[in-house]
Amino acid sequence: MTGKATIIGTGSYLPRHILTNQELEKIVDTSDDWINTRTGIKTRRIAGAGEETSIMASQAAYKAMEMAGVTALELDMIIVGTITPEMVMPSCACLVQKEIGAENAFAFDVSAACSGFVYALEIADRYLKNAPDMKILVIGAETLSARVDWQDRNTCVLFGDGAGACVVTGSKAEDGLLASQLYSDGRLWQLLSLDAVPRRYCPVVDYGTVPERNSFCDGSAFNMVGKDVFKYAVREMGDAVENLLNREGITVNDINLMIPHQANIRILKSLAERVNLSFKKVYTTIQKYGNSSAASLPIALDEANREGRLQKGNLLLFSVFGGGFTWGVVLWRW
Ligand code: UT7
Repeated sequence: MTGKATIIGTGSYLPRHILTNQELEKIVDTSDDWINTRTGIKTRRIAGAGEETSIMASQAAYKAMEMAGVTALELDMIIVGTITPEMVMPSCACLVQKEIGAENAFAFDVSAACSGFVYALEIADRYLKNAPDMKILVIGAETLSARVDWQDRNTCVLFGDGAGACVVTGSKAEDGLLASQLYSDGRLWQLLSLDAVPRRYCPVVDYGTVPERNSFCDGSAFNMVGKDVFKYAVREMGDAVENLLNREGITVNDINLMIPHQANIRILKSLAERVNLSFKKVYTTIQKYGNSSAASLPIALDEANREGRLQKGNLLLFSVFGGGFTWGVVLWRW
């Protein structure tokens, strides 16, 4: 067995409609100050017509493929991390395959909530160990606005939509996935759940209006015990980071940048403090995009990449936590 995953192209897509905290003040009893202080979120993106999960995923994929210099026909596999596909069947990944014309690929979704992209990346890495020439599209894409109860101030202020993608292939050098560890604990499922039956085109909201609870999605909104999720997220991601670094003989000072799941700026600050990582080394997009579940990490990765924050040889940490519970950490040489 040889080979490990390396990323040769990144891309992302954000819906055009920006929903501000001030607009949310008009639909629930909240304030810009509360949202900003408790979460760090100022705006989030809301998908509209033509911005279904698979379409956003495909747009992110086109950008990643362009950067990678890989055509759709060269793709061997497509994995989409999502909890908000248009339909249960076919998978979002199959719709992406159709949309981009990746006729030679096989495609499937991974349901691991906010950890979906990292789970998908890990699966890609396992394939590449046996078949390093494979070209794999790994995507995180979500349309959470469709599943949010827009009357519930505890959750509706937190989430946003979007997609991020990577083209991954076998590394021929030192770069790529160095180590990873994934976790789940289904016993804690009731602390964060979503019992929606996905409906195609469910998410559509009109531009220029504040979202209203979508009639297709009644009874399908998030259930969340926020304080507990917060506590577990910091503790489990912190332990996961420390265990992986110890196992690999790497100190936190060796890390150039942590790109975490973006759920709450206070979670990220607490996590950084817990593992003794300077917050300057934590990449954040939460202010602009809120929590876009599986999409948040690949969107952040693409932005960091395109801003030139990722230098060849940099040591990166990907850290995620979400419903299930699921969580995980990946050590990556850029
Ligand atoms: O990707 C994983 C998914 N989810 C998460 O990671 C979420 C993790 N949890 C969190 O981020 C935080 O727990 C929240 C941001 C959800 C909540 O922050 P908190 O500091 O834990 O607040 P809280 O739930 O303890 O609520 C404090 C108060 C409550 O009022 P009372 O009972 O003290 O009178 C809430 O009713 O804030 C109230 N509140 C709000 N007030 C204004 C809750 N939501 C809002 C709101 N605007 N949007």
